[in-house]
Amino acid sequence: MKLKNFKVNPVRKIGGVVFIPSDKSISHRALILSSISRGTSRIFNLLESEDVFSTLNALRNLGIEIKKQKNFYIVKGGSLKKPEGKIFCGNSGTTMRLLSGLISGHPIKATLTGDMSLSKRPMKRIIEPISLMGAKIKSKKGFPPLEIQGSSNLKGISYKMPVASAQVKSAILLAGLNAKGTTKIFEKIPSRNHTEIMLKNFCADIKIKNGWIVLKPSKLKAQNVMVPGDISSACFFITAGVLLGKIKIKQVGINRTRTGFVDAIRKMGAKVKFVNKHLLSGEPVADILVEKSKLKARNFSKKDIPSMIDEIPLLALIATQSEGVTKITGAQELRVKESDRIRATYEGLRKMGAKIEELKDGFIIKGPQKLKGTSVQGFSDHRIVMMLYIAGLIAEGRTTIDDISSVKISFPDFFKIAKKIVRRD
Ligand code: S3P
Repeated sequence: MKLKNFKVNPVRKIGGVVFIPSDKSISHRALILSSISRGTSRIFNLLESEDVFSTLNALRNLGIEIKKQKNFYIVKGGSLKKPEGKIFCGNSGTTMRLLSGLISGHPIKATLTGDMSLSKRPMKRIIEPISLMGAKIKSKKGFPPLEIQGSSNLKGISYKMPVASAQVKSAILLAGLNAKGTTKIFEKIPSRNHTEIMLKNFCADIKIKNGWIVLKPSKLKAQNVMVPGDISSACFFITAGVLLGKIKIKQVGINRTRTGFVDAIRKMGAKVKFVNKHLLSGEPVADILVEKSKLKARNFSKKDIPSMIDEIPLLALIATQSEGVTKITGAQELRVKESDRIRATYEGLRKMGAKIEELKDGFIIKGPQKLKGTSVQGFSDHRIVMMLYIAGLIAEGRTTIDDISSVKISFPDFFKIAKKIVRRD
């Protein structure tokens, strides 16, 4: 497949049943918690994407034995060792931030680096709380590379989260596992809670009460983990369905801290149903039924953002096809993702003819507006590339995306699956 100047032709209809890849956030956490547990864990349906491989390779470099068997990974829990050379986290903020917390609680020294995009992402948000716990972290003025001197003498802290971030929360919890005393974290707006759910499943002493997460130092026990489908990946096809036809997406995680996008578009009139609900390794899962729907504009603000943080480019696309003016605010965190996603979304949709205004923390979008195919930039950001592809499906004329190689970060088979749902009849 040609990765540069990739052409997207519009379609009139989509349909069918799809399986989407496993959850990226849960895959990172399954590898990390298994690595420090007593015994051997098995992880079924681990997401095999570049970000998750960054975590897997880092853990191997830290001395953990991880092997692939037929359809699962085997992780032998052990003690972390000083890595050989630097740990390269690639494009993955989750790898760098979670491993910083993990390494901080162990008496080893490690340097964490990343690619060009990761090197520009803020790390002060983890350096501050983890340093308060007693780890020594050097950085380049708050940016990677991070040089961490961990310790088995960290102390638990009580911390009110200044930004809603599951990566920061998870880094503190991972450091807290090995600290002396209790670690307490308060979140005003809840961020994704996969770390808390999985820590409980791995037998950690963790409780959630009135917005506080309370973790006592714990020894984890190995488990078998089944990773559900990634709702963030499903949302590209949910969007395609709402705009273009009937589609069923199988076995998707529907944890309430992740379904903000579905809640938002339902309020706009989207027909999205969760059926066949059940639990998988403590996480709620369902099949998702989507139908083409008539959409109305709505406003979204700060409290709505964390549970749809990765889906806001898609919400902007949906807003271009909705009747009225949609305002999205409180989403300034998008500026420090794999790309500046406010700018990237604005640039792409504006170039395709959307009536979109860029705010410092979001957008104002007037719809419905027929989009026009043209050449657009993905900013080497997987979620921007996939959003632009869906935009290309509903546009008039052909859209050309400059480079689609970044989909390997979270969804290597995106284009293969997308091709299957297109109906040409
Ligand atoms: C993630 C948390 C979110 C999200 C990212 C994955 C995680 O980042 O955007 O894609 O796995 O913890 P923040 O913690 O920066 O909000």
